Amino acid sequence: MCGIVGVLGKHEVSPLLVEALKRLEYRGYDSAGIATVSEGKLDRRRAVGKLVNLSDLLVHDPLPGKSGIGHTRWATHGAPNTVNAHPHQSGPVAVVHNGIIENFKDLRAELARHQILPQTDTDTETIALLTHHYLTQGMSHVDAARACLARLEGAFALAFLFDGQDDLIVAARKGSPLAVGHGDGEMYVGSDAIALAPLTNVITYLEEGDCAVLTRETLDIFDESGARVTRAPRQISMDAARVDKAGYKHFMAKEIAEQPTVLADALRGYLDGNSIVFPHALPDFSKVERLTMVACGTAFYACLTAKYWFEQLARLPVEVDIASEFRYREPPVTPGTTALFVSQSGETADTLAALRYCKGKADHILSVVNVDESSIARDSDVALPIHAGVEVGVASTKAFTCQLNTLLLLALHAAVQRTTMTPEALADKLEKLRALPGLFNATLERGHVMEDAARKIAEARDVLFLGRGLMFPLALEGALKLKEISYIHAEAYASGELKHGPIALIDKTVPVIVMAPRDALFEKTVSNMQEVMARGGKVCLVTDAAGAEAAGSDVWRTIILPEVDPVLTPLLYALPAQLIAYHAAIAKGTDVDQPRNLAKSVTVE
Ligand code: AGP
Repeated sequence: MCGIVGVLGKHEVSPLLVEALKRLEYRGYDSAGIATVSEGKLDRRRAVGKLVNLSDLLVHDPLPGKSGIGHTRWATHGAPNTVNAHPHQSGPVAVVHNGIIENFKDLRAELARHQILPQTDTDTETIALLTHHYLTQGMSHVDAARACLARLEGAFALAFLFDGQDDLIVAARKGSPLAVGHGDGEMYVGSDAIALAPLTNVITYLEEGDCAVLTRETLDIFDESGARVTRAPRQISMDAARVDKAGYKHFMAKEIAEQPTVLADALRGYLDGNSIVFPHALPDFSKVERLTMVACGTAFYACLTAKYWFEQLARLPVEVDIASEFRYREPPVTPGTTALFVSQSGETADTLAALRYCKGKADHILSVVNVDESSIARDSDVALPIHAGVEVGVASTKAFTCQLNTLLLLALHAAVQRTTMTPEALADKLEKLRALPGLFNATLERGHVMEDAARKIAEARDVLFLGRGLMFPLALEGALKLKEISYIHAEAYASGELKHGPIALIDKTVPVIVMAPRDALFEKTVSNMQEVMARGGKVCLVTDAAGAEAAGSDVWRTIILPEVDPVLTPLLYALPAQLIAYHAAIAKGTDVDQPRNLAKSVTVE
């Protein structure tokens, strides 16, 4: 959600803070700010909008100092304006915060009784006010921060900086990730290792409830009970932290184009000849009675796709749920259940809460994540990496196909264990999977066809996506992608549902994107297309050569993809869904990588 950073450096820290914030901008971009201590004096600069506005401000109004904290905001409490931008300051205390302080109104009321009043609409300011209040009662800086932390309810990652203290940052995490970086006579803190990558690759991840006291030479960590604890630092691969557009205009374009390579790498990580090799021991799927899968957004659609695979290939009953519904519905999770959570970031608050709900209830807790050190990975019995590499674009692309890949491998593995698939049939599927990066390349080479269709689709106010079977979740993903970055209203339906209501929407202004390879369900989808066309609807059919021929010439546009094994179609058909959304967004002139109102990692409810 928001991104936070702190540096105790040997040189001026403003440029380092801004550089780190640039790498965290994917977490939020409503406003940004930094605070430093220079010759003992605490000062700050803040600017509304993208980080570039803060950089411009610092050119005209520089902020000296060798210690500092910084923040890039995704607004929760209070409008995105300069007053509400972080760092928040009360007297000698400045604080940056990621998360939500749920009891901030109670704390405000308490402070008001001491005539301490807020100047902003934010929950975060309360932290600065309360810590300041404790300081005035004679507490030390560290004790005041820790006393404040003990009062906070909700989710947070925090960094405090104090006037007169140019060798001290206090940082804490509860519900939001935080990493401490070790330098040579320097110390850093950041929302993730990626932010700190240009500064160091030696990282200590704080655990839930930890409070860290940083100086340039020392790191003291205390757990939630207040006991001093040791957390082992680890080396992070610099490759894993690379964040650049590699010549592409947008991260999303780069991440779409990377998919053949990333998928090939992911397959290399999981396959050994005709066997699937998992990095950790998995439950015995022959004993699993049901699988409960939980996620949000695109990851939820990956789960919906996997439901078809687990049910059809492994004959394993599957329930799929949206994390924000699952966690409060309190569904019965009975013995025999394996719970599986899918999350690119591994930090999505609702998915994490759903996972914690299942702990002690489900027999096994599995997760499929892109960040090995994430909270969801750490809280799982087994975390399976998707090997997508850093995904910066807010719209998930390569993470989706890599989630599908990992889930498919898991379903194939379960099928063999449950003897619903022979080793020979598995070998055949793996051979076809290995050929998929080549088909990805062939599809991307025909990107101009999707660009052409997308330009026309961008003229529409509403768009419908239709799909049957494995293509239904993909239709949902296509609609999400389109609305997310082009702001075009898009809905997706199972093709068979069309005449139960949505067909009323059809007229010649509504493009209907139909995802339909020539499979066993194709003829039924053709009937649905006819129903659309009979009402003047414009069908954009995404299919293979056989499907294009069978569909006839009445369709408005046809996007032809290579033929692929039916089981693998969701992976391949994800590419046109992504490219249509991308080119429609370009045509509309929207901010592709940082669409309005969104942030990459949703660490608040
Ligand atoms: C996808 O394009 C979205 N940005 C969003 O739906 C995302 O998939 C969702 O927020 C879940 O995130 P996660 O995978 O990090 O848990």
